Amino acid sequence: MFKVGVLTISDKASRNERVDESGKAIKDIVEDFGYEVNYYNIIPDEVEDIKKELIKCSDELKCDLVLTTGGTGFSKRDVTPEATLEVMTRNAFGISEAIRAFSMTITKRAMLSRAVSVIRNETLIVNLPGSPKAVKESLEYVINDLDHGLKILKGVDSECARK
Ligand code: MTE
Repeated sequence: MFKVGVLTISDKASRNERVDESGKAIKDIVEDFGYEVNYYNIIPDEVEDIKKELIKCSDELKCDLVLTTGGTGFSKRDVTPEATLEVMTRNAFGISEAIRAFSMTITKRAMLSRAVSVIRNETLIVNLPGSPKAVKESLEYVINDLDHGLKILKGVDSECARK
């Protein structure tokens, strides 16, 4: 069973001014899929805070997958992709490309998500947009294939079956 860290990145939610529905949406989807959420936190839109949490999830808690929500748009406070890129050891950009391509079939505003996906050592980190609707659409679209990627990353599956 893969271990998942969930990070909600939102100034308002971190100050308790907004209920974190997006973090809950992520937890529900990954748990339904059979993964274990072993860390969850709400943090403000600050590069250093985000980096610290991503490194904690990867290096200390050994999460297999870290899913972030929020901070991927164009507002001045949106810095999730920048923080994520700073902790990357290898890129996994195809995941975010796939999410954007699919999301564009739902709303053209999907082009405004600057989300990235990266690998940090043995942890896959995927940025998701901020709204619960966008989280659900994005994560449900990729989770099945993320699972295969995680198995390759962890050495559980050695090769890609042709699909
Ligand atoms: N992706 C999906 N699937 N569905 C959506 O409704 N909203 C978009 C985009 N991606 C959306 C989506 C919008 S309106 C924005 S501004 C960006 O995600 C960035 O969102 P964030 O700043 O909340 O992270």
